[in-house]
Parts: sequence; structure tokens; C-alpha cells
Amino acid sequence: MQEHFLETVRGWVREAGHIAVLTGAGVSAESGVPTFRDAQTGYWAQFRAEDMATEAGFRAHPEQVWDWYQHRRQLMDGVQPNAGHQALAQFQAAHPGRLTLITQNVDGLHQRAGSTGVLCLHGDLFANRWLDTPRNCCHIDDAVAGRPPTCERCGNQLRPGVVWFGEMLPLAVFEAAERAAQACDLMLVVGTAGAVYPAAGLAHQARSASARVVVLNPNPSELDGTADAVLRGTSAALLPQLLAA
Ligand code: OAD
Repeated sequence: MQEHFLETVRGWVREAGHIAVLTGAGVSAESGVPTFRDAQTGYWAQFRAEDMATEAGFRAHPEQVWDWYQHRRQLMDGVQPNAGHQALAQFQAAHPGRLTLITQNVDGLHQRAGSTGVLCLHGDLFANRWLDTPRNCCHIDDAVAGRPPTCERCGNQLRPGVVWFGEMLPLAVFEAAERAAQACDLMLVVGTAGAVYPAAGLAHQARSASARVVVLNPNPSELDGTADAVLRGTSAALLPQLLAA
């Protein structure tokens, strides 16, 4: 049955003038990066999102939160893009202008695989920005080392340049993602639980604009009911099969 669906979706890929791909943490799982919501192995099985991924959590426990992001940054040193990241990058290179990649991931693995124009909805794990509105004295390069680094003059703290719960997505990036979702013929929803909005809403937007929506995930996701087809498998196994020339 799965073989049959796979062949059908391969046909949809061939037919599609424009493909939008929405990825989540599952795409990096086979590279060794933990997801958030997988039972046992996901970060949110170990930590509370309110503590580690909100401004209030950071203000309450800046050292703990800073250390966790440092840990996640260091983890990436030993991690490589996998066959799923590579299949997306190779398709983009072989079919210029046909695939827009939208990701909730902050790990940079799509870019390291060679994908271009990646729309990063949730920011960049390796970027920092000031917690409070910067004053004239706040220069990122001058921040005094610490957990977190601070402005030596006013005490403003650096924080990771990721989007936390309750924060706005970068507007221009999200608008570009919406345009891609509304204009595509096919949206692949890969390795995401589909639980976080507004990112997950892009699949609904694609569907409303008459695109086909296909979910690729080894487990049930909240977007399965929106999909024209659900392929049960991992992204490193499925994406090369779907996107091969
Ligand atoms: P989740 O951790 O919520 O979901 C990961 C999804 O990947 C699950 O549906 C898994 O079944 C699936 N999965 C696991 N291994 C896979 C594999 N090898 N191949 C394909 N899929 C696999 O991650 P996201 O949906 O990305 O936000 O989470 C969305 C946002 O919630 C994240 O960007 C993060 C998180 O809290 C912030 O930190 C703001």
C-alpha cells in the first residue's frame, strides 16, 4: 500500500509547477538532533517549554536557559545533514525556482546541505540578540562573557536569536512562507508534529488554495487530517525516493 502511495506522490512531485516544503524537527532526527515532542527522546519530555522557550523562562533562570542553548549549539558541532536534507538541496539545485523550503528548525542543517533561500520561521540557534531594547552602549561584539553575556555598561543580556513561545515570527519571512503556501501546487509537510501555529497553519493555507498536501512522518501528526496522502516513514528514507530525478 505504502509503495502505491509513494508512486502516486512521486507523480504529484513531477507534475507540480511549484512545491513548498514545511519541515520540522523530525527532519534532523536522523542526524542525531533531538526533536521536541517525541516521547522519551524529545526535549519537551525532559524540560518544560515554558521554562526553556519563553521570555519569562529566560528572565527567571537566565543561566539555565543560556546553558541549554549553548549545549544545543555545541551538539551541532558533531552533527551532519542527512539524506533528507540532501535530497531537498539536490532537488533545488536540479530544478531552480521550483521548490521553496520553509523550516521551523533553527539548527542550520538545511543550509549546510546546500539549500538556498530557506525561510526560517523560528530564527537561528547560532544568532544572539539583546533581551531588552538595546541602548547606545550595547554592542554585541563587546558583550562581556558570561551566562548569558551582558553589556558591561547597562547590564542588558544577550539571548538566543530564536523565536520563543508567545513571540512574533519574523514578519517578512512568514509573509514569504504564506505566499509560497498559497502559490504552490504541492506542499510536503515533513517531520513536524503540526502542533505549533502559525507554522502549522501554512498546510491549511496550501490546502485552501487547492494545493495537494502530503505528510511525511513515521508517526501520526496533527496535520494528517489535512493531507491528501500520508507517507509513514522517516524523512531520510522518504525524501530521496520522492525527489530523485
Ligand atoms: P516536534 O518535536 O513537535 O515533532 C517532531 C515530529 O517529527 C514528530 O511528529 C515525529 O513523529 C517526527 N519524526 C521523528 N523522527 C522523524 C524522522 N526520522 N523523520 C521524519 N519525522 C520524524 O517538532 P516540530 O513539529 O518541529 O519551537 O516542533 C515545532 C516547534 O515546537 C519547534 O520549532 C520548536 C518546538 O517547541 C520553538 O522552540 C519555538
